[in-house]
Amino acid sequence: MCGIISYIGKQDALPILLDGLYRLEYRGYDSAGIAIIDHDGNVCHMRTAGRVDELANLLAAHPVQGSFGIAHTRWATHGAPSAANAHPHADCKNNVFVAHNGIVENHAKLRAALEREGHIFASETDSEVFAHLIERALGFLGNAGTLEDAVSEALRHVEGAYGIAVVSKKHPQKLVVARRSSPLLLGIGDNEFFAASDSSALLRHTRRIIYLDDNELGVLTPDGYEVRNIRHKPVPKQIELLTGSPEDMEKGGYDHFMEKEIHEAPDVLRNALRGRVLYEDGTAKLSALDASADKLSRINRIIFLSQGTSYYAGLAGKYMMEELAGVPSETLYASEFRYAPPPLNEQTLVVAISQSGETADTLEAVREAHRHHVPTLAIVNVVGSSIAREAGMGIYNYAGPEIGVASTKAFISQLAVLSLAAVWFGRQRNLSVLRGREILQELRQLPHKAEKILSNAARIRALADEYALYENFFFLGRKYNWPVALEGALKLKEISYTHAEGYASGEMKHGPIALVTSAFPSVVVAPSDSVYEKSVSNIHELKARGGKVIAVATEGNTEIVKIADHVMHIPRTQEILSPILTVIPLQLFAYFIAKKRGCDIDKPRNLAKSVTVE
Ligand code: G6P
Repeated sequence: MCGIISYIGKQDALPILLDGLYRLEYRGYDSAGIAIIDHDGNVCHMRTAGRVDELANLLAAHPVQGSFGIAHTRWATHGAPSAANAHPHADCKNNVFVAHNGIVENHAKLRAALEREGHIFASETDSEVFAHLIERALGFLGNAGTLEDAVSEALRHVEGAYGIAVVSKKHPQKLVVARRSSPLLLGIGDNEFFAASDSSALLRHTRRIIYLDDNELGVLTPDGYEVRNIRHKPVPKQIELLTGSPEDMEKGGYDHFMEKEIHEAPDVLRNALRGRVLYEDGTAKLSALDASADKLSRINRIIFLSQGTSYYAGLAGKYMMEELAGVPSETLYASEFRYAPPPLNEQTLVVAISQSGETADTLEAVREAHRHHVPTLAIVNVVGSSIAREAGMGIYNYAGPEIGVASTKAFISQLAVLSLAAVWFGRQRNLSVLRGREILQELRQLPHKAEKILSNAARIRALADEYALYENFFFLGRKYNWPVALEGALKLKEISYTHAEGYASGEMKHGPIALVTSAFPSVVVAPSDSVYEKSVSNIHELKARGGKVIAVATEGNTEIVKIADHVMHIPRTQEILSPILTVIPLQLFAYFIAKKRGCDIDKPRNLAKSVTVE
């Protein structure tokens, strides 16, 4: 949520900052801005409502040459998306410039105090207090004061979350950055340094990075860098190496990142399984779990915590864990768990699921679990992200960067990893080696089966074109495919702005069915599984009320084609793994409807990829 990129070195900062903003745009895209200090010490401070493209157009008319600066792309929290509310924010005298990601919780109090002291605010944002607090601190410290001392002093007053980047006209050739509960990492080049909210902005420039931890400050000059804590003590940091290639950040011939990412499902499955299938033993090799096997054998309850699409993966994870391992499990929104945790003890395991590894609620939920001494396991895609680093144990998805705001390939990977974890827990308990092998054998088939579904994309496109103008949809499913119904509805609403509700099929009769008419179609996820007959009854009930039905069903099912209006097919698979396949047609269906409706698929309105504020 919001992206920061900053640069200090010998090169022209502008193209580096603009390219970084484009890479970070998926984090927020309602306004953007830049502050570059040129060779004569003048500041080019430019901001605009709208996308990075608008900022680039503005800058094309006002070229600036300077070798250090900061830039920001915003997802509005406090104050509408306008040029005045866009970052970087300046102090009263236009000396200090700050880009901020996060929320200052005590901003109203701080602002009132600063205004009483005569500071003039130019925006409605919470973030602007940083600029005035730093201005005030520089005043206290006088000529001997450094920018980093002033930033440390300012941060003492701030409650809430921040990743900030600061430059000052009076402190040329210096960039100060700091973090608390909002991601920030340093990029280490040769006599040039970067700081950014995530690595996607750095990959083109350097692979050497340092993750800042909470309450740490980075001081960057063209000659070097130092990391210190807010008590001014230097902190030794390890340089880590980024993997992946800049091409992962490109669309690779597809029209949208979302389309590319849906088509990556087979590879994503291969990557999730690579080196993790111990077929002979009918179990999974998951190093984090193996290393803690003793402790995990005493776990008698699992709580999955996550938000959005990852929450739906958690709902499927609960069923997998209960069926294969017999461990009572529940799935909660991390945002609820944080403030209303159920009674917890050391035999409970918290499993945090997050693509980005930065979702503020999920990160705070992990911290809450730790406060209760509860062991935590993270299932995370982004390597080195905050949740990955803070959780006690971790399993990476290795799905590669997901850029489309609507999550697709990460969901598939999460389901695959959850099924491996459920097999692992099951084998630690009563799951037979034969049953373990059956699941692993089928998991290995899934990449081919996913390919088969994707090869039918044109048929799903034709169906989507036919349904693109409907304004309301139900998505229904039972047992393992209830989470898929929820996810199908979420995909459709987030990218096509079509009203869609996901329900457990059995709940339909308890109210929602009142809405069904011929103008309110339902997508029923009904593969051939243990609840198939019940799903068929539900389809009859919808049809009897004039509702149109699109079914997701197993190939070879000749019955359902006679009942439903349309069928999207998946290859036959094990019930427990069926969500991994049934979700693919729904992702494509949402994608093609959004395309037909001319929507901005990779950057849907009001959304952001990485929700780093509560
Ligand atoms: C945002 C994204 C969703 C994502 C959710 C949870 O809402 O738009 O696609 O599912 O956050 O994100 P996480 O990174 O924790 O999986």
